[in-house]
Amino acid sequence: MRRMEEIIQAKPWIAWLVFLATLLMVFLLGMFGASVMERRYEAELIFRLVKPIADWEPRNEVWGENFPLEYESYQNTSDTSFKSKYAGNKTIDYLADNPNLVILWAGYPFSKDYNQARGHYYAVQDIRETLRTNVNMPGTCWTCKSTDVPRVMNEKGVAAFYKSKWEDLGGEIANHIGCQDCHDNKTMNLRITRPALIEAFQRQGKDIEKATHQEMRSLVCAQCHVEYYFARQEEKYLTFPWDQGTRVEAMEKYYDEIKFSDWTHKLSKAPMLKAQHPDYEVYLTGTHAQRNVSCSDCHLPYQTMGGVKFTDHKIQSPLNNIANSCAVCHRWSEQEILKKVEDIQDKVVELRTAAEQSLAQAHIEAKFAWEQGATEEEMMPVLQLIRHAQFRWDYVAASNGTGFHSAGESSRILGTAIQKSQEARILLARILAKHGVLDPVALPDISTKSKAHLYIGLDMAAEASTKKKAQAELFPKWDAEAELRHEKLGKYSQQLYK
Ligand code: HEC
Ligand code: HEC
Ligand code: HEC
Ligand code: HEC
Repeated sequence: MRRMEEIIQAKPWIAWLVFLATLLMVFLLGMFGASVMERRYEAELIFRLVKPIADWEPRNEVWGENFPLEYESYQNTSDTSFKSKYAGNKTIDYLADNPNLVILWAGYPFSKDYNQARGHYYAVQDIRETLRTNVNMPGTCWTCKSTDVPRVMNEKGVAAFYKSKWEDLGGEIANHIGCQDCHDNKTMNLRITRPALIEAFQRQGKDIEKATHQEMRSLVCAQCHVEYYFARQEEKYLTFPWDQGTRVEAMEKYYDEIKFSDWTHKLSKAPMLKAQHPDYEVYLTGTHAQRNVSCSDCHLPYQTMGGVKFTDHKIQSPLNNIANSCAVCHRWSEQEILKKVEDIQDKVVELRTAAEQSLAQAHIEAKFAWEQGATEEEMMPVLQLIRHAQFRWDYVAASNGTGFHSAGESSRILGTAIQKSQEARILLARILAKHGVLDPVALPDISTKSKAHLYIGLDMAAEASTKKKAQAELFPKWDAEAELRHEKLGKYSQQLYK
């Protein structure tokens, strides 16, 4: 040691040389380590990608050859055996359960047919078969249903996709929602494939590319589980109304300013808004989002099988898998967890039902007021209140989770829906009094779905036969087109349209 000190004293630059050499060694070792890790990662991907996945590959089976665990669990979204208190994957006929909905949507396709969603596996089949879809719809309606969408958008262009006719795209759309919708085909990283989400971020001055990994675990869902509308009559351009924010008041203001309405109500003549399923927007206002818990933490939990840890892709109600989802973070027993969820939902449903009853009455009383000779000037404020009340009710009712995703916000919104609807009814009572009606308006018998259909003048037999005729004409044509295309792509145990 003494010799070293002597040398350094004689030639101080040697200390610097040793220091720099050490620095270089550490740097090179680091580089080597990183390169080994990278190689290993690449090797793993190459090993796992037994079959390279082509750009725009829509077939889940092809992706699945590389990732059998994820593929098989994803195929389980075909399960329709689970029913929770308010949801699950069993079909529930919402209109039969709650005929008031027929009144709320009079004049709009939702009054014909509205079922509880089943699962990603059925996305194409369900949209093809519902009475809500007919030949006069835009291509835009296919956007959130299939892995063929990114492929066709790439071929045709996004605007041309939306502008297409529904019947013209039917042969292109055959594979249900899947791997390509959320994953990059080379790296398997999460990615956004739907332009409407990217564009909504851009208009708010945000770059979705900068989203964190944890945010991406919700944003992949926000491609579809959101509120949207078709902008510009001619173009039917899929747009998220988020320019002023994602809260219900911000969207309501957005729609009011552009004077947008989805339809004119058949009974009340109010210019209505149909909320789609603002799951992401409602979630953003809740405790879990605030604590950075993503959609995937609850709906795509980790699972271990034979020592391998992977993401369970059976995307479903977490109440069918409490142990792997909620219980990972919460130390409550499964029964306690279930009870907490149902308690939240029961309270939201109580308010939701009150809003529905009030709104159904408001529509019926407004119809009666028109019949008594009420003027447009008198009715205008009433119709505006009904429009806002129903949008708010629907923002909660149409979003999934029955209020669980954000209990406080859901209840607040339903409170304002009831208040606005009741205000409309007070104004209606005054208008009716002015026109000589002092008694309460008699309510028709709308106690069952068919009675409600009769009251709004919807001939369901005719609806069903029109749909059947269109199906008989379109489906064989679509199916032949899709089969031909898939034959060219190569044989797989293809389950098209499912
Ligand atoms: C903290 C856990 C949690 C988070 C985070 C979460 N959810 Fe949920 N989700 C639930 C629960 C609980 C339900 C209610 C299920 C039921 O009633 O059966 C639910 C219901 C749903 C449903 C309806 C399921 C059915 O069977 O009807 C959908 C769709 C859904 N969530 C989508 C999302 C999306 C999209 C996000 C993110 C934007 C999200 N969820 C975030 C827990 C969560
Ligand atoms: C709705 C979106 C969505 C769809 C559809 C989807 N995934 Fe995933 N996938 C995810 C999310 C979220 C993760 C978790 C990723 C993370 O946190 O980095 C994931 C993770 C993965 C991983 C990483 C390993 C693991 O298990 O965590 C693989 C591999 C994968 N998915 C394959 C597939 C395949 C194959 C399909 C089609 C059969 C598919 N995914 C469909 C959202 C999706
Ligand atoms: C490409 C669009 C798309 C993406 C991306 C997507 N979903 Fe869905 N999701 C749908 C559609 C459409 C349905 C209804 C399918 C049916 O029943 O026909 C659905 C249904 C569901 C259901 C079942 C609902 C029920 O009532 O049982 C759950 C749960 C769900 N999605 C959660 C998620 C989560 C969580 C993500 C993100 C990881 C996600 N989805 C991403 C379009 C999408
Ligand atoms: C990744 C972790 C994580 C998962 C998974 C998770 N939670 Fe939570 N949860 C939290 C955190 C963090 C809070 C906030 C706790 C706090 O601030 O004290 C919370 C709060 C709650 C609360 C308090 C009430 C509220 O909403 O404000 C309930 C109830 C709850 N969670 C239920 C569930 C259920 C049901 C599931 C499964 C569907 C679930 N959680 C899944 C982390 C999680």
